[in-house]
Amino acid sequence: MLNTAVKAARRAGGIINRASRNLDILTVEHKAANDFVSEVDREAESAIIDMLLRAYPKHSILAEESGAAGDSEYQWIIDPLDGTTNFLHGFPQYAVSIALAHHGVLTHAVVFDPGRNDLFTASRGAGAYLNDQRLRVSKRIRLQESLIGTGFPFRELAQVDRYLAIFRELLGKTAGMRRPGSAALDLAYVAAGRLDGFWEFGLAPWDMAAGALLTTEAGGLVGDLRGDEGYMESGNMVAGSPKIFAQLLRIIEPHLD
Ligand code: IPD
Ligand code: CA
Ligand code: CA
Repeated sequence: MLNTAVKAARRAGGIINRASRNLDILTVEHKAANDFVSEVDREAESAIIDMLLRAYPKHSILAEESGAAGDSEYQWIIDPLDGTTNFLHGFPQYAVSIALAHHGVLTHAVVFDPGRNDLFTASRGAGAYLNDQRLRVSKRIRLQESLIGTGFPFRELAQVDRYLAIFRELLGKTAGMRRPGSAALDLAYVAAGRLDGFWEFGLAPWDMAAGALLTTEAGGLVGDLRGDEGYMESGNMVAGSPKIFAQLLRIIEPHLD
């Protein structure tokens, strides 16, 4: 099943790479404020779904652009292009994200960065990989020395004050914060130890699913803002190596009501 997901991600990556050479001729639509979709998102998504359903016709799908379809114990969770705003600007930080859940438990994950040809994969119990290299989360133990990824709550402006209060506190207590613009890739970077931790509010399941399995299979932890499960439902997520995860939660928790 992982092989099929890898093939589908590479196929979508080809579509994205080709389109990246001709960004000025793309048709772009506004989904909501600051939220765009292009024909590339749609083409990549339908290529992925075609390949997955050809191999597994009975499986169900949850995909960003086309929504939910089918009813099966197996569900593919797909973001065909995570980081659309970056992509549309030629800012090279975006990825294809595909995960498989069985009875709601994440079992396989692929995050593919087509610009760099970085293929992140994980299967439950079998570890996480970047191409053929085994991944481990970072060994840093002090938040003060850690590089933390995040994303802005640009869809839910009601969250901005709370977000900024946490951001402000973390600014003084970390080595730095980054907002690269692709949550799936941010989580893959946590798995690879390139980021020591990550937090964001208001994500969708397809932003988080593959990256969450990559992180845990690389020895990290993922949870909601209190460290509990349920981040797939709330969309609020904290991730990191076990030590940094705990320190992030200690800072975030007092800001929650
Ligand atoms: C977005 C990216 C971004 C995150 C947003 C997501 P999209 O996904 O993951 O980093 O901050 O919350 O919606 O819309 O480019 O697929
Ligand atoms: Ca996304
Ligand atoms: Ca997307």
